Amino acid sequence: MSVELKNLEKIIEEKITKARTLDELNAIRVEVFGKKGLITAHLKSLADLPEKDRKEKGKKINDLKNIVNSLLQNKNKNLSDTEITKKLQKEEIDITLTTRPYDQGKLNPITQTIAEVSTIFQKMGFETALGPDIEDDYHNFTALNIPPEHPARQLHDTFYLKGEKNKLLRTHTSPVQIRTLEKKKPPLKIIAPGRTYRADSDMTHTPMFHQIEGLYLDKNVNMGHLKGCIMDFCREFFEIDNLPVRFRPSFFPFTEPSAEIDIGCFKDKSQIKIGDGGSWLEIMGCGMVHDKVLKHCKVDTKKYQGFAFGVGVERLAMLKYGISDLRSFFDSDIKWLNNFGFSIFENIEKI
Ligand code: PHE
Repeated sequence: MSVELKNLEKIIEEKITKARTLDELNAIRVEVFGKKGLITAHLKSLADLPEKDRKEKGKKINDLKNIVNSLLQNKNKNLSDTEITKKLQKEEIDITLTTRPYDQGKLNPITQTIAEVSTIFQKMGFETALGPDIEDDYHNFTALNIPPEHPARQLHDTFYLKGEKNKLLRTHTSPVQIRTLEKKKPPLKIIAPGRTYRADSDMTHTPMFHQIEGLYLDKNVNMGHLKGCIMDFCREFFEIDNLPVRFRPSFFPFTEPSAEIDIGCFKDKSQIKIGDGGSWLEIMGCGMVHDKVLKHCKVDTKKYQGFAFGVGVERLAMLKYGISDLRSFFDSDIKWLNNFGFSIFENIEKI
């Protein structure tokens, strides 16, 4: 290397040795390799040299470049290490501080109840089906044998959509029966959980609530199957083997015969306890699917028949988990949820 370049190497090396911070080291990098840098100037001067000298000097400058680069690199590592060490020495960790509180989310008892009910019916072979919250008159009423002017329409306190004559918020999950039959042919076994709406609000009614619908169509399905299925469900859901279950004659336009299902309980002024207590609590509606409904859906009624049922989710949750105020489900009160909510792991079956 020429004397000139050797000198330059010494000068740069000295500068690098003296650098005390990463910022200073960076400034040196610019001073050497920047546009007007010390080595850059030498590289530029190559252009004026005759070819032979150019090659020779070029190589020398390159060697210098490599030396300087590795000096910079080493120093950079040294300085980074000391800066980290210094920082760590300055930093203090107060191990007496408590950890930051964090909230573990909980499932609303409605979500939990839908999961529990679904699991029981899935074990019996029912598949889950979902329908839209915004329905039309045909699916919510007409196809279910509730023609216009039928008194049952008044009972439903329907929310109609503004400006949309035919659109409404479904008043029950029964339209999912119709929508399923439009797509699938029997035999079939479905449950349909979802939101339902009625213009009603007091201690025991909220304008939005949840139902789970069930539909089972096959050859030779009869009322005995309905009774067995619902009885098994009630006993498994409430976890009481000998829970009394009663079928009381009732009326729904879309089932014939129809029944209301009551479960046994003990009642006094201060409490209700599910079980064998001599009193009854109504929990759901059911019946054999009406011929007219099946005909609307083009089901061959000579071949297929079956049953349907509909159950209110909030009611089930209130009875099973001792929740006394229906409206509390929708208050979004974190304290309430911490008390009545469920861990997300609750629904995963233990091995
Ligand atoms: N749809 C009925 C209701 O909302 C419940 C029901 C469903 C009854 C299916 C019979 C059969 O009250």
